[in-house]
Amino acid sequence: MKLPSHVTLVEVGPRDGLQNEARPVATGDKITLVHRLQAAGLREVEVTSYVSPKWVPQMADNSAVMAGIARLPGVRYSVLTPNMKGWEAAQASQPDEIVVFAAASEAFSQKNINCSIAESLERFAPVVAAARAAGVKVRSAVSCAVGCPYQGEVSPDEVERVVLGLKAIGVQHLGVADTIGVGTPRKVQAALERALKHYPAAEVSGHFHDTYGQALANIYASLELGIHIFDTSVAGLGGCPYAKGATGNVASEDVVYLLHGLGISTGVDLDALVDAGHFICQAIGKPNGSRVARALLAKRGVIAAC
Ligand code: HMG
Ligand code: MG
Repeated sequence: MKLPSHVTLVEVGPRDGLQNEARPVATGDKITLVHRLQAAGLREVEVTSYVSPKWVPQMADNSAVMAGIARLPGVRYSVLTPNMKGWEAAQASQPDEIVVFAAASEAFSQKNINCSIAESLERFAPVVAAARAAGVKVRSAVSCAVGCPYQGEVSPDEVERVVLGLKAIGVQHLGVADTIGVGTPRKVQAALERALKHYPAAEVSGHFHDTYGQALANIYASLELGIHIFDTSVAGLGGCPYAKGATGNVASEDVVYLLHGLGISTGVDLDALVDAGHFICQAIGKPNGSRVARALLAKRGVIAAC
C-alpha cells in the first residue's frame, strides 16, 4: 500500500493542549510556545479560541496571544470561532484560518456549544460566509466522530449527516475528531470514508485524542486512506472541558517520530519540537505526555530515564 510521502501537522497544543489547564498559563508562555513551534518547522498552528471566557477561561487572553505572536511567513495561524461574536472578536487578530466545531452527537453538541447540531450549523453559516468573504479559510471539526462520552457509539451515518451540513454552508475543510480517543483503526476509517465521500483527501484531516492509546494506530489507518493532515498536540497536552477523563491529542513528537520512521516528510525538526514540549511542560508544571519526547530527553540526560 502506498502511503502519502508528506504529511502536514496542524499543531493544536496552544489551543486544545492548553484550554483545559485549570491554573492560568501566562500569556507570554503561550506566545513563546507558538514561537518555538514555528521555529521547529510547524507551518500550521491553532493558536487560541474565541469562545466564552466564562466557559473556557484559559482562552480569555485570545487577542493578546494573537497580537503577541511574531508571525513567520508561510505559517498559517488558526483560531476557533463558534459564532458571530467569536468571528467578530477574532477578525481584529487577522487569523489565516478559522475553525467551526460541530459534533456528530446531539448530546455533545449541547454540552460543548449549548445548542443542537442543526442550531450549530445555523450559527456557523454566517460565520463561514463572513470569513470567506474576508478571504479567511474555514476549517471544521466534527467532534465525537467515533464515540461520545454521553451517547456512547456514534455511527458513520451520523458523521455523514454533519459532514453534509458543513459542506452545505461552505466549510472548506473537514476535520474528523475522536474527542475521547475511543476509536480503533477500522472505526476511524469508516468515519473518514464518509468525509472523503464529500471532500477531497487534501481537505480532510484527523484529530485523534489518545485516551485509549490508539491514536498512532488510527493515524496509520488514516494514512492508508490517503489522509495526510493531522492535528497533534506538543507533549500530548490537553483534553476537552466537555469530555471528562479524555486526555490530550496524540503527541506531536510521537507522530513526527512515526512518520519519519516511515520515510514520510513533515518539515518538522524533532529535536526542536521536543524542546518546545519540554519548555511548556516546565512552564505549566506538567509531566511530558509524549513517549518519544521522554525517551529523547532521557537520552540527553535532561530527565531521568525510567
Ligand atoms: P451560549 O451561552 O449558548 O451563547 O454560548 P449566548 O449567545 O447565549 O451567550 C451567553 C454569554 O456568552 C453572553 O455573555 C455572550 O456575550 C457570551 P453574557 O451576556 O452572559 O455576559 N458569548 C461569548 N463570549 C465570548 N466569545 C464568544 C461568545 N459567544 C457568546 N464567541 C458558546 C455559546 C459556543 C459561546 C459557548 O457555549 C462556549 O463558549 N462554549 C465553549 C466551547 C469550547 O470552547 N469548547 C472547547 C473547544 S472544542 C474542542 O475542544 C473540540 C475539538 O478539539 C475537536 C475534538 O476534539 O472533538 C475542536
Ligand atoms: Mg480536540
